[in-house]
Amino acid sequence: MGERWWQWLRHPRLDSLPIGPTARPSLTELAQQFKTDKWGLHRYTPHYEHHFGPWRDRRFTMLEIGIGGYARKRGGASLRMWKAFFGDAQIVGLDIEDKSSVEEHRIRTYQGSQTDPAVLERILADQGEISIIVDDGSHRPAHVRETFARLFPRLAPEGLYAIEDIQTSYWPAWGGSADLHDPATSMALVKDLLDGLHHEEFPFLDEGYEPTYTDLHVQAVHAYHNLVIIEKGSNREGTNSTRTPRLRPGAPPARPVAEQRAPYRHQP
Ligand SMILES: C[S@@+](CC[C@H](N)C(=O)[O-])C[C@H]1O[C@@H](n2cnc3c(N)ncnc32)[C@H](O)[C@@H]1O
Repeated sequence: MGERWWQWLRHPRLDSLPIGPTARPSLTELAQQFKTDKWGLHRYTPHYEHHFGPWRDRRFTMLEIGIGGYARKRGGASLRMWKAFFGDAQIVGLDIEDKSSVEEHRIRTYQGSQTDPAVLERILADQGEISIIVDDGSHRPAHVRETFARLFPRLAPEGLYAIEDIQTSYWPAWGGSADLHDPATSMALVKDLLDGLHHEEFPFLDEGYEPTYTDLHVQAVHAYHNLVIIEKGSNREGTNSTRTPRLRPGAPPARPVAEQRAPYRHQP
């Protein structure tokens, strides 16, 4: 059985049956073709295909942090893979190294650190609304957290935000920690988002607790081995607890991000 069938069996969707003349290469096949380690060393592409598949024919802008090749000239494998997968998307890459040599039609690069607010602002100003962000940059938890805090509030309302290689949370040499409850890791951010997803169930909700931006705008957190994909959307379903009304239409709107101490709770 071919790779495409295995993928389909893993995430069956009627509109993506891998048969007929219209069958297109899977993301895994494209990863192999363009030689990005998102398949092989890692096993990310089936998960991406599952979440990004509905975007395949849409016109939108995607940002990937980390273009690849490090200080050498080569790199850009994943940008070319995304371009081939998304037929009509603008693919933007950010890297601390100069990767302008990988630019081509629908691929644009920026040089700068993922924690530099100036370059992030420049990308947003130039490229407009971004619907998908993939953080495959330094993988240092402090950077991952800072980038997320800056970019998630600016992501399109129904956007997706992926964090790769989140295992560095557990690796002290990468700025992670052997303490599973360390609040400064990327995984701690993910756990915080999961709590926030359930903020309407907090027992102290009616005692002046003010929901954070992510409490109100993270709709789902999909965790896979070393990869997390966060879905943005409205998180105001209400609770079935008798303590609070099922729906709280009068709930105050989220305060503008600039006024909040942090978009998520446990900013170390
Ligand atoms: C794992 S590689 C990216 C691989 C590529 N996305 C792919 O799948 O083919 C990581 C890249 O992040 C870049 N990088 C490292 N630290 C960074 C930072 N602070 N800001 C932006 N990019 C960074 C490196 O130069 C390197 O090119």
